[in-house]
Amino acid sequence: MKAFVDKNICIGCGACEGICPEVFEMDDDGLAVAIDKEISAELEESAVEAQEGCPVSAITVE
Ligand code: F3S
Repeated sequence: MKAFVDKNICIGCGACEGICPEVFEMDDDGLAVAIDKEISAELEESAVEAQEGCPVSAITVE
């Protein structure tokens, strides 16, 4: 499972980093970026929670 943030949609609210900082962090441009590696099993639940919590649905987890 990997996560992606569409920076054309992200508004930089920071919720994803708040929910799952192991996978999402805020970039220098103030928008979120997801780690570019496979999400470990124990983090999948919070990564999906972050996806569902994004107010503009900028996150894809697949
Ligand atoms: Fe952006 Fe959504 Fe995260 S708006 S900062 S991807 S919660």
